[in-house]
Formats: sequence, structure tokens, C-alpha cells
Amino acid sequence: MKSVRDISVESKKIFVRVDYNLPMDDQGNITDDNRIRQTLDLIHYLTARHAKIILASHLGRPKGKYEERLSLAPAAARLSEILGQKVRFVKDCIGPEVEQQIKTMKNGDILMLENLRFYPEEKSNDAGFAEKLASLCDVYVNNAFAVSHRDQASVTGIVAHAPESAAGFLLEKEVRTYYDRVENPQRPLMAVIGGAKVSGKLAALENMLQFVDQMLIGGAMANTFLRSQGVDTKGSRVEKDQQETAARIMEKAGENGIDLMLPRDLVVAGAFDQNAPKKTVSLDAIPDEWMAMDIGPKTIDQFCAAIGKAKTIVWNGPMGVFEMPAFMEGTCAVGRAMADADAVSIVGGGDTGLAARECGIVDEVTHVSTGGGAFLHLMEGKKLPGVAALEKA
Ligand code: 3PG
Repeated sequence: MKSVRDISVESKKIFVRVDYNLPMDDQGNITDDNRIRQTLDLIHYLTARHAKIILASHLGRPKGKYEERLSLAPAAARLSEILGQKVRFVKDCIGPEVEQQIKTMKNGDILMLENLRFYPEEKSNDAGFAEKLASLCDVYVNNAFAVSHRDQASVTGIVAHAPESAAGFLLEKEVRTYYDRVENPQRPLMAVIGGAKVSGKLAALENMLQFVDQMLIGGAMANTFLRSQGVDTKGSRVEKDQQETAARIMEKAGENGIDLMLPRDLVVAGAFDQNAPKKTVSLDAIPDEWMAMDIGPKTIDQFCAAIGKAKTIVWNGPMGVFEMPAFMEGTCAVGRAMADADAVSIVGGGDTGLAARECGIVDEVTHVSTGGGAFLHLMEGKKLPGVAALEKA
């Protein structure tokens, strides 16, 4: 895969696919601009080389038509603020208005296009649409790791039409970190897996079982594993149709000599509510109708001691309902142990990245991915379509 560093960008029109799919509040304010900040090094690199930068992204999942709340105008304004440089915004991503704006760009100018997914052709990877996007530029750069698991026009299709294509710094960093650190790790290699559903992480669990040394499982998905081992999890969230799968994963871990740890105690609550009555119980003492909300202190001690001995840790999924402060202790304790470990520590994005930020460990771990689905895709052992397209270019 060619790097943007290998290409001459001087005075050229560079179409940079970014992932500015940013969290917003109900008033349309950006609540976390990390994905913008992670692209600044590339923007500085290109402006220093007098390139004309055309930024393109999706935001949310519009149904192929304009929705004001999913406009990228706020992202352009925030980038402008951060850079202290005007970022022009155009209310389309193809067509005469865009072409006109590009014609008037001077070297070093930055133009942000409107949400690519306002056209259904983006998602369906329509060749004609990809060609129109490509016709806007001299060079296409994919710097959008977080959407590179999607086979969509601005991620894969465009590469066939752009005069030259390359990977941006963020895409390179994310992919290299995963392959160098997780697939060729210093051992022992530990996977810490949590989150709501076994079904959503099944492919990742199965793939990781082929090469990790240890696996810790927490979060609501641990309930399904506990139930598969005969624990009466009472009112806890359990995926009944995944119990056999969970049992099979436990067996497979045993066969592969992997030390798979489940919670040994839990923080349970009488309702799914931050203010519900709560207590810490052993696995055989969950009150009727109460539900698991976090891992308990004995589990925290056991998990953190294990993390302290690992040389590489990859973490995906919170250990409890961390969005509620009453139940974030397990997630933050695990995050803190990772940050303190003398190890390479990689945090998969999405909810886990958010948890890492809330627990204040972002600057103390080796890498926090900007990808949610894309990171999981790598954990599943699959190649990212966005990367495959660049490799063929
Ligand atoms: C993400 O936030 O994970 C990416 O931007 C991909 O978004 P998508 O799941 O809507 O394709």
C-alpha cells in the first residue's frame, strides 16, 4: 500500500477521505472532536506542501438523502477553529457547485464537502458516483481507518478512477499498529473482551482464540458465558441463543491451552438504573430478578493481576454499564491496569475508546483506535476493503 509520503502532492488537488463521523448532542454540537484531531498531522503535511485539500466524509446513516442534522458544516467549522485557518464548506459532494469551488482554490486552501451518504450511491458503491468523486482530484488519499471496513464509493470504488491513490498517516498508523503489535506480539498476549453481545463479537472471539495466550471476558456478554457454565444469572441480560456458542468457545479455549477467565463476582442491581439499589455478590448469590451491571472487586483483583503480567493487551468492550457512573468501576479498573502495565496496550475504539477517555487513560496506553467496526474487523482476522483497494492500486 502506497503512502502519501511516496507521492508528490505539491500544488495538487488532494481528495482526502476522512472519518468525521463525530458524536453530536441533540442540539447538533460536536461532543468529541478526537477524529478531527487525529487527521491534523496529515492536513499540516499537505498544507506545508502547498496542496489543495478536499476533505470528504460521511456522518451518521442518512437514508441516501439530505438531513440537516447530519450536515458536515459543524465539522468544517470545528476544523477551522482548531487550525486557525478558514475551511470552506460546500453543500454538496459532487456536481457544478463543488467543481466551481475547487476551481477557485489556491495552494494550501482547504475545502470540506457535504456528507457523502446524502447520495445512496456512496453506500451502494456506485461506479459512476465513484468516478465523479475521483474526477475532482489529482490524488486520492484514504485517511479514514474507521470506515475502511466498508465497501463504499469513497473508500474502495474511487481508487479505480483516481489518477493516483495512497494511504494517509492515520490509516497507516492504525493498520500498522494492529498488525505489528497484535498479530506479531510480545507475549504473553491477552485479549480483554467485553460489551453487550456475544453475537456481535463471535467472529472476533473465534479468531483471537487462535493466537492469544489469555482471554478475559466481562460486560453483559460474560453473563451468557456464565449461564453456559450453569450459573443462575437471574435477571441479567443473557443471549439464550448464544449459550451453546459460549460453551463451545470455552471448550475451544481449553483445547488451545488458553487461559480464559470469567467474572467470579458481580455488582448487581435491582433495575437497569444508575440509582437502583446495588450490591456485590458471589455468582451463587444473585437475588431473584436482579441483574449484573459490573464485575465485582474479586474479579477486578484477578483481572488486574493477570493484566499486570501480560506483555501485550488488546481491549475491546467495557466490563459493565460504564455509561452509568455507579457501574463504571470495573471498566476503569481494567483500563487503569492496562495503562500501568509494562506492556503494549491497545484499545479498540467505539465504546471502548469512549470508556478509555472517561477513565482518563488515553494518554497512558500505547494506542487508542479511532475505529469501532473497523477495529473489530481486524480482530476478526479480515482484511479491510479500504486497504485491499489501495494495495491493488
Ligand atoms: C464508525 O463510526 O464506526 C464509522 O464511521 C463507520 O460508520 P458506519 O458503521 O455507519 O459505517
